[in-house]
Amino acid sequence: MSLFSIAAAIFVLVTATILGNSNAQLSSTFYSTTCPNVTSIVRGVVEQAQQNDIRIGAKLIRVHFHDCFVNGCDGSIMLDNTDGIESEKDAPPNQSTDGYDVVDDIKTAVENVCPGVVSCSDILAIASQILVSANGGPTWEAQLGRRDSRTANRAGTSAIPSFLENLEQISQKFRDAGLDSTDLVALSGAHTFGRARCSTFVHRLYNFSGTGNPDPTIEAGYLETLRQACPQNGSGDTLNDLDQSTRDAFDNHYFTNLQNNRGLLQTDQVLFSTSGDTVAIVDRFANSQSDFFDSFGQSMINMGNIGVLTGTNGEIRTDCRRVN
Ligand code: HEM
Ligand SMILES: *[C@@H]1O[C@H](CO)[C@@H](O)[C@H](O)[C@H]1NC(C)=O
Ligand SMILES: *[C@@H]1O[C@H](CO)[C@@H](O)[C@H](O)[C@H]1NC(C)=O
Ligand SMILES: *[C@@H]1O[C@H](CO)[C@@H](O)[C@H](O)[C@H]1NC(C)=O
Ligand SMILES: *[C@@H]1O[C@H](CO)[C@@H](O)[C@H](O)[C@H]1NC(C)=O
Repeated sequence: MSLFSIAAAIFVLVTATILGNSNAQLSSTFYSTTCPNVTSIVRGVVEQAQQNDIRIGAKLIRVHFHDCFVNGCDGSIMLDNTDGIESEKDAPPNQSTDGYDVVDDIKTAVENVCPGVVSCSDILAIASQILVSANGGPTWEAQLGRRDSRTANRAGTSAIPSFLENLEQISQKFRDAGLDSTDLVALSGAHTFGRARCSTFVHRLYNFSGTGNPDPTIEAGYLETLRQACPQNGSGDTLNDLDQSTRDAFDNHYFTNLQNNRGLLQTDQVLFSTSGDTVAIVDRFANSQSDFFDSFGQSMINMGNIGVLTGTNGEIRTDCRRVN
């Protein structure tokens, strides 16, 4: 390597570090003077919502994830189809994100107390933190101060990992978002609660990759259970527990499931069954729930920092479904 290319490499590294740190503008006390009660207002709405829908935490954290992976955490996913807006919500393959009615309820409650102050993208970050914690998971200091986009990016949804991808492909998409293997494994641990439709994993059950056999990384008893739930010619819409041992609790059983070849999605099981640096991380989280919880909180903060709009960029949307 020439001196010049070493200098160029150092320049790139330093620039990347500075850009990466520009997200440090978010802060846990961002609304302490402008909307000091925002967390309890959000908590009131989501605790009520959870009475009617045990999955609301799973739904909202997934919306936050999909928001952050497309143009950064800027609320773009919440925009409906309108003049000039091609919504990300129904981009193919049907991502089936849900929970937007509850976001509307939260937004209304917050606007009633602090009009025009709290962004829709921050509402997702606050609600995710409250609901993970309410379901038995960790507490972390949600970082706030994001602003909302004035555009959606339907084509950009290709940055979201697909359930048909292998370890290298999902790792690459996380790296593209600035997230490493620890973030990938920790955040996949959100599949400790919530459901998935048969259509998202049925390809593993009968004729995996055209072999005529099921995916060899599914444990035999679990394969039988899943085949019963998802017949070959079924509609594909039947819902299944992402964590069959404790379906609604936020805990580390997701990782022991992977060790037992009982991961539901292909992209879950590859974290343990494909050799790579993720295997040791799965083992570590399976052995220590507190290691998982610490990493999960940190990785949620990392994910929440992706491409945020701050300062005078973007806007504070009044209605999360449309630009002002
Ligand atoms: C590694 C890449 C990932 C892939 C390929 C993936 C894929 C999926 C799929 C296919 C479903 C079922 C959707 C359906 O039935 O239509 C799902 C559900 C879910 N995902 Fe992921 N996911 C990934 C990462 C994440 C991350 C990072 C989070 C959050 C931090 C997350 C949270 C959830 C939750 C909570 C559910 C259940 C939602 C509900 O019950 O409605 N996922 N995911
Ligand atoms: C904050 O919000 C909660 C829930 O809506 C409410 O019970 C409480 O009285 C509020 N506190 C203040 C200081 O407004
Ligand atoms: C996507 O799938 C969900 C769940 O099956 C369904 O309710 C919704 O109508 C679908 N949306 C589109 C645009 O196909
Ligand atoms: C499995 O899929 C392959 C490729 O699509 C096909 O050629 C083969 O006939 C299928 N086998 C069975 C048993 O359905
Ligand atoms: C289900 O699909 C299999 C394989 O494609 C086919 O052989 C069988 O006839 C189908 N069964 C029904 C009830 O449609």
